[in-house]
Amino acid sequence: MTTPDDTRAAQNGEAGCRAGGKRVAVVGATGAVGRTMLSLLRERAFPAEEIVLFASARSAGTQIDGRTVQLLDEHADLSGFDIALFSAGAGTSRQWASQFVDQGATVIDNSSAFRRDPDVPLVVSEVNPHALGRHHGLIANPNCSTMQLMVALAPIHRAVGIERLVVSTYQSVSGTGQKAVAELEGQAHASLHGMDMPAPDIYPEPIAFNVIGAAGSFADGDDHTDEERKMMFETRKILEDESIGVAVTCVRVPVRICHSEAVNVQTREPLSAEQARELLANAPGVVLEEVPTPLRAQGRDEVFVGRIRRDESHPRAVGMWVVSDNLRKGAATNAVQIAELLGADRAGVPVG
Ligand SMILES: NC(=O)c1ccc[n+]([C@@H]2O[C@H](COP(=O)([O-])OP(=O)(O)OC[C@H]3O[C@@H](n4cnc5c(N)ncnc54)[C@H](OP(=O)(O)O)[C@@H]3O)[C@@H](O)[C@H]2O)c1
Repeated sequence: MTTPDDTRAAQNGEAGCRAGGKRVAVVGATGAVGRTMLSLLRERAFPAEEIVLFASARSAGTQIDGRTVQLLDEHADLSGFDIALFSAGAGTSRQWASQFVDQGATVIDNSSAFRRDPDVPLVVSEVNPHALGRHHGLIANPNCSTMQLMVALAPIHRAVGIERLVVSTYQSVSGTGQKAVAELEGQAHASLHGMDMPAPDIYPEPIAFNVIGAAGSFADGDDHTDEERKMMFETRKILEDESIGVAVTCVRVPVRICHSEAVNVQTREPLSAEQARELLANAPGVVLEEVPTPLRAQGRDEVFVGRIRRDESHPRAVGMWVVSDNLRKGAATNAVQIAELLGADRAGVPVG
């Protein structure tokens, strides 16, 4: 028998929804992360009674999966949402997230707007879900490069303590959004067809057949990029240890999806490569491989770790190579996992 809820779910194109589920707002639904969040809500059969899509005037009125994208402006109805998943840039989050919270929603924000706020938990679902217990309506999702690093390093930090990290990232262009993917493809196409590459717009240099040794932007007077600062700050906040040294170089490479990281981990207690492998073999969300690659990790939710080896230059250091899909675990998957954990908490299952 078809119930009114079933009918509404069918009208909204929602596979896997069940009666009494959540009302979910997806802000930035037309973007690289937003579209991935919509796929994940469907794939994971998130118990959504209704999903409402929001974006700017650029794409309001367009259709995604049979739903019409709503304009997020002062006329938008923000009432009655249980969860609002934000991925529309820090400015949009600063302007609109608290308005959703005031109307009763819990906001899970992918932008950098609130990550440094001590009152806002910064959560990786496998690492510090206990931090959700102290949220006041706002929860921040970490930066994509930090996210995958934390999944790989938290088991090591818990076991032997991390003293210092030296990380170099190889970040894909989808980390900068859909326009950056189009920029890479346009430049690559032109170059392969003997034409002049279109001038760079998103990045300061062409990204096709190139490597840009400073991913992110430089704030006034800073010799580190904002991406590098995010990894330094967020690592310490998530691992709840201000003493961890973090040296990082963020690099943009001409890869569509998946960030890779070369990581040197200096531990407090001794840790052999074999012990590191054992710790990570049993770690949630981690898959061990010889040499993970972006093309193999794309579309997957796990963090792939390989090349675990002793650093022969230091008595307490190991090296590793960490790859993960920045749109999935680096953003959308973690946001949906947090929404699932919140649901579990409400149902009486303690978070963490
Ligand atoms: N890409 C990643 O790997 C990644 C990982 C972690 C976190 N993040 C964060 O997630 C956010 C989105 O990134 P993205 O890569 O998905 O970017 P994107 O592909 O450029 O998409 C941006 C989205 O935001 C919407 N938007 C922009 N301004 C808006 C406004 N004033 N009101 C409502 N919607 C607005 C856009 O809507 P229109 O279609 O109307 O323009 C679009 O849906 C950023 O804060 C980013 O830092 C991204």
